Amino acid sequence: EQRRTRYWVEAHKLAAKLYQHVLLQTDEGKEAKQYLEERGFDEETIKEFQLGFAPDSWDFLTSFLSKRNYNMDEMIEAGLLARRDFDGKPFDRFRGRIMFPIWDRKGQTVGFSGRVLGSGHPKYMNSPESDLFNKSQLLYAFNRARPSIRKKNEVILFEGYADVISAYRVGIGNGVASMGTALTDRQIKMLKRNADKAVLCFDFDDAGQNATYKNAEMLESAGMNVRVAKLEEGLDPDDYINRHGGKKFKEEVLEGSLTLMGFKFRYFRKGLNLQDEGDQIEYVEKMLSEVSKLNRAVERDHYIRQLAEEFNLSLDALKQELIQIYKRRK
Ligand code: CTP
Ligand code: MN
Ligand code: MN
Ligand code: MN
Ligand code: MN
Repeated sequence: EQRRTRYWVEAHKLAAKLYQHVLLQTDEGKEAKQYLEERGFDEETIKEFQLGFAPDSWDFLTSFLSKRNYNMDEMIEAGLLARRDFDGKPFDRFRGRIMFPIWDRKGQTVGFSGRVLGSGHPKYMNSPESDLFNKSQLLYAFNRARPSIRKKNEVILFEGYADVISAYRVGIGNGVASMGTALTDRQIKMLKRNADKAVLCFDFDDAGQNATYKNAEMLESAGMNVRVAKLEEGLDPDDYINRHGGKKFKEEVLEGSLTLMGFKFRYFRKGLNLQDEGDQIEYVEKMLSEVSKLNRAVERDHYIRQLAEEFNLSLDALKQELIQIYKRRK
C-alpha cells in the first residue's frame, strides 16, 4: 500500500512539473500566465508555489504518462486521469485550468486544485478523495508555513489558495487555507500543535463570515486564542492586498483584528435594524448569551458595559438578565 502511494506521489510530482512547464514555457500557457500576472502572481511566485497550467486537451497528461509506462488504472484511481464512460478509456481530468498543487505535511504533492481561466463553473476542481488526497486532513500550504507559524506562535487561516499566496508575496508566511470547508478536528489539532494564536481571515461575504463564526468557535473550544481580521465589505484578502497593498493589509486588516467577541458584536447585527426596538432587544439578548459564555468576569463586565452604553440601557438590567440566562442554562 505504501508502495502504491509512493507511485501516485511520483506521478503527481511529474504532473506538477509538466503543468508548470506548460505555463511558463509554452504558447498554450501564455493566456494563463498573463491572467496570473494580471492578478499579481509573477514568475517568482509561480515557481515558489509550483503553479502550472493544464492545457485544454483530453489526452495531454494521459499520453505523457502512458508513454512513460504509467499504469492507467492506477492514474485514474490517483485522480490524475478520469475514465470515459462508453469505452473505459482514460482521459485528462484537468483541462484548461490553472493548477495549484496541494502538498501534504511532508511537502509531497498529493493532489491538485484546478482553477478555470477567468469565469466558469466549477471555479475550482479538486482531485477526488483518496487514501492519498484526504481534504479533511490537509491544510493548503501548511508544510511551507509551519516554521513561520511556530516562530510567531500564530497561524493565519484563509479561505483560498490565492489568499495564502498573496499574503506570502507581501511577507506573511504563516498563512494556510482550509480550502473552502469547515475545519475538522484533525486540522484543528494540526494548528493547535504549532501555535497558540489563530487569526481568521476569511472572505468578507456571507459565506465567509458564517464560516468565520463556526471555525472561530471551534478553535476557541480547542483552547486557541482567536482573533478575526478586519476586512472590507465584499473583499477577500487577495482582493484587498491587490487593491490596497501589503502594508495596509498588515496595518489595518491584521493589526486591526478583532477579538472573537468583537467580531460577534458585528456579526450578529447582520439582517437587524437596530433602530427598531424589537430587533434591538433581540440583538442585546443574543449578545448577552454570548457574553455569558465568557469565563472571565472582567471580560463579561467589559462587554456588558459596551452594550449598556450603546443601547442606553442600565448596567443593572443587563446584569439581571445575565443571571437569568445562567439560571435558564442550569
Ligand atoms: N473552492 C473549491 N471549489 C469551488 C469553489 C471554491 O474547492 N468550486 C475552495 C477553494 O479552495 C478556494 C476556496 O474554496 O480557494 C475559496 O473560494 P472562493 O473565495 O470562491 O475562491 P478564491 O480563493 O477567492 O478564488 P479566486 O480569487 O481565484 O476567485
Ligand atoms: Mn469565498
Ligand atoms: Mn475568496
Ligand atoms: Mn473573488
Ligand atoms: Mn479571491
